[in-house]
Amino acid sequence: MRLWQKLLLGLAIILIAIQFIPNELPPINTDNPADLMGSGLVEGEVATLLKTACYDCHSNTPAYPWYSYVAPSSWLVAKDAREGREEVNFSNWEEIEMMDQLAILDDIISEVEEEHMPLPIYLTLHSEAKLDASQRQLIMEWAEAAMDIVVEDEEE
Ligand code: HEC
Repeated sequence: MRLWQKLLLGLAIILIAIQFIPNELPPINTDNPADLMGSGLVEGEVATLLKTACYDCHSNTPAYPWYSYVAPSSWLVAKDAREGREEVNFSNWEEIEMMDQLAILDDIISEVEEEHMPLPIYLTLHSEAKLDASQRQLIMEWAEAAMDIVVEDEEE
């Protein structure tokens, strides 16, 4: 066997071996009665934008592409999806305390304004999730208005 053949064989063995390491991809769960989408707080274009640009990492209903299931890319997807859901899970929206909802909405404004979210690495493979200036503006205005609604609902 030539050296390059040995190297390729070694690489193939490594790639196969790492498929057996669990990737800890957060599970998909489609039964989410407390989801933001059903709360009446968001509708129309903003609802579509959040679903397209945020739900893969911030909900129980991500659409995992094939590379989410193949190591090593699966490890990266799993890490972002896990950490994203820990911070904000829109599927549990109505179970979140009012003060935490307000904090999340406030964070959404700054994260979207500064273009920290959606995560830049995600956008390299998800061009449909890129937000232009007017789409960012829509989300920010929605979050601002939603903060008032959340407070009013609590007072009732
Ligand atoms: C590729 C996965 C991914 C996508 C897509 C994504 N996020 Fe995140 N998000 C994360 C991760 C990971 C964190 C936690 C680490 C961090 O703050 O960078 C996070 C954190 C956040 C936080 C909390 C920030 C803080 O520091 O308190 C907010 C708010 C947020 N995301 C909003 C959004 C919104 C709104 C969208 C869509 C426009 C979005 N994210 C899209 C992965 C993602």
